Amino acid sequence: MNKNTLTGKKALIFGGAGRIGSATGKYFLEHGAEVLLADRDNLTLSNVKNNYPSYVLPRCFTATLDTQSEQLETELKVAISNTIKEVDVLINCMGYIYRAPFLEHSMDELDILWNANVKTIFRVCQLISKLMMEREKGKIINFSSVGGTRPEQNHSGYCAVKSALIAFSKVMAVELAPYNIQVNVVGPGPTETTPFTSDYYFKHPQILKALEEKTPMGRIGHPEDHLGLLLFLASDQSNWVTGQVILSDGGLSLV
Ligand SMILES: NC(=O)c1ccc[n+]([C@@H]2O[C@H](COP(=O)([O-])OP(=O)(O)OC[C@H]3O[C@@H](n4cnc5c(N)ncnc54)[C@H](O)[C@@H]3O)[C@@H](O)[C@H]2O)c1
Repeated sequence: MNKNTLTGKKALIFGGAGRIGSATGKYFLEHGAEVLLADRDNLTLSNVKNNYPSYVLPRCFTATLDTQSEQLETELKVAISNTIKEVDVLINCMGYIYRAPFLEHSMDELDILWNANVKTIFRVCQLISKLMMEREKGKIINFSSVGGTRPEQNHSGYCAVKSALIAFSKVMAVELAPYNIQVNVVGPGPTETTPFTSDYYFKHPQILKALEEKTPMGRIGHPEDHLGLLLFLASDQSNWVTGQVILSDGGLSLV
């Protein structure tokens, strides 16, 4: 794969103001794509774009969108038609985390986790899949977590919803394959971002140390650790890969 790997591709990245989403946007732009970064955090979105190298800016667009908006369908159509016009690649890189022992897990937080990590991503996938079906091509990459594939203490709700996301993504892969749409899931291990990990680890340095010692690669991830995998899954090099859950975790899931 080279700097033109994504030339001619149009990518919509939800959670584009987030740490992994913004790093992905930059990487895709550097590899030739047109990118629409969508996020509900307008201020961070502007800062992200302002920090990108100037040569990619003509191909970089932003849209302030909340996936939980009741007008999402209309807002999304307007945002796409005003910018990249079509979507070849959809990345759902937004999410919400809540940690608590199982017996103390609040039901309200369970609802919030479900809405943020399953329901709204399900909805975005439905809306964009329909556009991709008309063009008979597309790539969808949904972000789960290592926690979606195995238990993590104090993450019962988060593990449950990230596992549900894997389940519906696999069904999508089957149902959308006749339309030449590939759907895959990336499961990061703990990655240095805020608020997903950093705030938590600042408060619990002993948990961070234990995780680093446990991870075969000897450290937690950086957002940049996931980019090569995302480039592959967004590119034509992965046209025969669908319905897969690929963990990008320094080997944590092996131990
Ligand atoms: N960082 C980690 O350690 C880690 C580990 C495993 C999985 N993940 C997953 O990776 C993905 C990205 O994580 P990150 O660490 O970059 O997170 P982050 O918090 O840096 O970014 C998430 C972004 O999503 C946006 N967002 C949230 N809800 C939204 C909504 N309803 N509408 C529009 N935008 C919304 C936020 O504004 C934020 O900019 C998430 O799905 C997360 O669950 C992260």
